Amino acid sequence: MLSDVINLEQPPFYQPQNNEVVIFEHAYKNQLPLLIKGPTGCGKTRFIEHMAAKLNRPLYTVACHDDLTAADLVGRHLIGDGEMIWQDGPLTRAVREGAICYLDEIVEARKDTTVVLHPLSDDRRMLPIERTGETLRAPPGFMLVISYNPGYQNLLKGLKPSTRQRFVAMSFDYPDAALERTIIENESGVSRATAQQLVELAQALRSLQGVDLEEGVSTRLLVYCAGLIASGLDTLSAARAAIIEPLSDDAETIAALYQVAEACLAD
Ligand SMILES: Nc1ncnc2c1ncn2[C@@H]1O[C@H](COP(=O)(O)OP(=O)(O)OP(=O)(O)O)[C@@H](O)[C@H]1O
Ligand SMILES: [Mg+2]
Repeated sequence: MLSDVINLEQPPFYQPQNNEVVIFEHAYKNQLPLLIKGPTGCGKTRFIEHMAAKLNRPLYTVACHDDLTAADLVGRHLIGDGEMIWQDGPLTRAVREGAICYLDEIVEARKDTTVVLHPLSDDRRMLPIERTGETLRAPPGFMLVISYNPGYQNLLKGLKPSTRQRFVAMSFDYPDAALERTIIENESGVSRATAQQLVELAQALRSLQGVDLEEGVSTRLLVYCAGLIASGLDTLSAARAAIIEPLSDDAETIAALYQVAEACLAD
């Protein structure tokens, strides 16, 4: 399973878009779980890493997928040295340590998985571990954060109301032009003028979303592109490799997007 734990001493660079930092701090203080919705590459993971470091909590991240089971989160018995040894899953470890547990793309997880979250995400803050008979009460430092991309491919999946309504929720989107330029400059070291051109390209490409493209270009891809430019690749090759090719497989669409890039990136 894809899970990891990080302990960052210094919060990584995060450019707030709104009052999300304050909302997160209040949710944490009130011991409320948090749901973040937003498209790919808009800063959700970076935000949570930033907040975990700011609040001085370890961060357990689990990438959810369609056969993620409750045991993957909670733990299981493993055979070791001829006997059965219990091994905590990432959710259980996070509860024991008073850490932040981040379940990414929660709508991918099987429905029975979300059920283990229910007693943990309401005022009981309990994690019953059926297999061992133990019930953990989450300490004040524990926080559950879940996220998903409400793009159209997830329309049918969604979250049950009984799950959603246990979370404080907020929506993320791609930052507005000035903030996105700051992010690109900070993340890659390109000049302000180059960052500005990339932002303009992004705005042009995002306006095509839904017409020719499933999703608009993410901030992540703009940062990739800027990084390639900063390391010496010419601007149009960088745009093709880091922005246009990742967006589509259709030759005509790629050609059309490339023309948009030529227009925006001409200096
Ligand atoms: N507000 C921001 N502040 C700083 N960097 C940002 C911000 N938004 C996006 N980025 C940059 O974009 C990259 C992608 O962001 P991130 O990985 O947080 O996206 P995500 O929303 O978690 O996407 P996914 O849903 O695909 O996991 C980051 O590595 C960072 O370089
Ligand atoms: Mg992420």
